[in-house]
Amino acid sequence: MKLPNLLDAKIRNRSKVEYLEAEVLKDGSLFKGKRYFLKTYGCQMNVHDSELIRNLVESIGFIESETMEGADLVILNTCAIRENAHDKMYGFLGRCKHEKTKNRNLIICICGCMAQEPSVCEEILEKYKYVDIVFGTHNIHELPNLLLNRMNKTDIEVESIEGNVYENLDYKRDSSIEAWVNIMYGCDKFCTYCIVPYTRGKQRSRKSSRILQEIKELKDRGYKEITLLGQNVNAYGKDLEGELSFSDLLLKVSDIGIERIRFVTSHPWDFSDEMIEAIASRDNIMPYIHLPLQSGSSRILKLMGRRYTKEEYLALYDKIKTRIPDAAITTDIIVGFPGETEEDFQETLEVVKKCKYDSAFTFVFSPRVGTPAEKLPDETTLKEKEDRLHRLNEVVNALSLETNEKYVGKTVKVLINGQSDKGENKVCGYTESMKLVNVVGAEDSIGKIIEVEITEAKSFSLNGVKK
Ligand code: 5AD
Ligand code: SF4
Repeated sequence: MKLPNLLDAKIRNRSKVEYLEAEVLKDGSLFKGKRYFLKTYGCQMNVHDSELIRNLVESIGFIESETMEGADLVILNTCAIRENAHDKMYGFLGRCKHEKTKNRNLIICICGCMAQEPSVCEEILEKYKYVDIVFGTHNIHELPNLLLNRMNKTDIEVESIEGNVYENLDYKRDSSIEAWVNIMYGCDKFCTYCIVPYTRGKQRSRKSSRILQEIKELKDRGYKEITLLGQNVNAYGKDLEGELSFSDLLLKVSDIGIERIRFVTSHPWDFSDEMIEAIASRDNIMPYIHLPLQSGSSRILKLMGRRYTKEEYLALYDKIKTRIPDAAITTDIIVGFPGETEEDFQETLEVVKKCKYDSAFTFVFSPRVGTPAEKLPDETTLKEKEDRLHRLNEVVNALSLETNEKYVGKTVKVLINGQSDKGENKVCGYTESMKLVNVVGAEDSIGKIIEVEITEAKSFSLNGVKK
């Protein structure tokens, strides 16, 4: 999707090398000691993009501030997946405006998926004139240049270069134990309700040699777990001639010997037998699969453009569970898609009960501007949709508790990643199946994989004691 030519917006495309050549940025003194506040909404992809943003602004002198108050630069990394994401952004902008009345030099910067939407850009440029910089998901690496231009009193810049895969990017990672690794950007699936193919662009896989190099470096730096990241990870490589398939990539990553490997998100349509075999055959590929269902009704799935029927999804589920009985399977479900009847919804409940998901992210359908589903006739009231969500959540939560209760008395391996917020003497971490565990008696185990005996199950977490 191309942005309209807005105001005096300049469309440029510079590489990282070029901005690093700008002496004024390179010596890091222009912004030395200035403070930035970064707020991130949305999925893991955005969280990982924020790790890149942190590195970029810190490399030109900024230091991070915990609060917006007193900051010289505010960056909002936005999400566009549902309507409430818009509300969050506009609420946040109100706070920014208030800060700008106190500090006229405050630089306000909007980026992420919403910034890639033309309608949102137009609105910001027209109504939110106190916003200084807007850049999309394809142009994060341009931020130092945009800040430099801002210092030179250039007006708002809107960038819209699609289709690039940038390499050699440095991240300031949130954790020194677990790391995200992008393997692909964008998505070609165009599910009819989804804004992602428009905000993140078409699918672009990174070269496997680069991915493997990045993971080797992370292992050498002591990382214990990596998560391969993409909107549709198991379509990896299909856009590059001669590239590895996702299952072959998994095996090569496994060969590197990092302790734990995860991946999100898989599309049922691209889930191959080789992938199941790879997960089953390697101890360091975690038996945890996020497999979005979206709906249990084949009729609705067709309207959603999901490319599978209820029966095909259930057959895949059975195949995975037969080969990997311990696999934890989680999902995403949308209720209230246009035209969804009570009978369709009952089919969703039926699939949920059959699959006994370890957990599920559930949403009410939110029409996104420019997507095909936005234009579909929809007679179901919001009240009815919310009622369906409530009924679905009751089933989902009961099943999560049921699965968690099976852990009580068992000993599991937990990668401890930090202090728990459930008490000073507790640390926390995840099981191989991605269950959050709060552990007592393991204060010295941060960064280690330890054996934990599970003593108590809750709907969303487990409690345990170090063995
Ligand atoms: N409305 C509601 N939920 C949505 N999702 C994506 N687009 C929409 C939308 N328009 C959900 C899907 C997806 C998850 C990340 O967000 O379930 O898997
Ligand atoms: Fe959106 Fe569908 Fe792509 Fe997932 S697979 S990002 S739901 S278009």
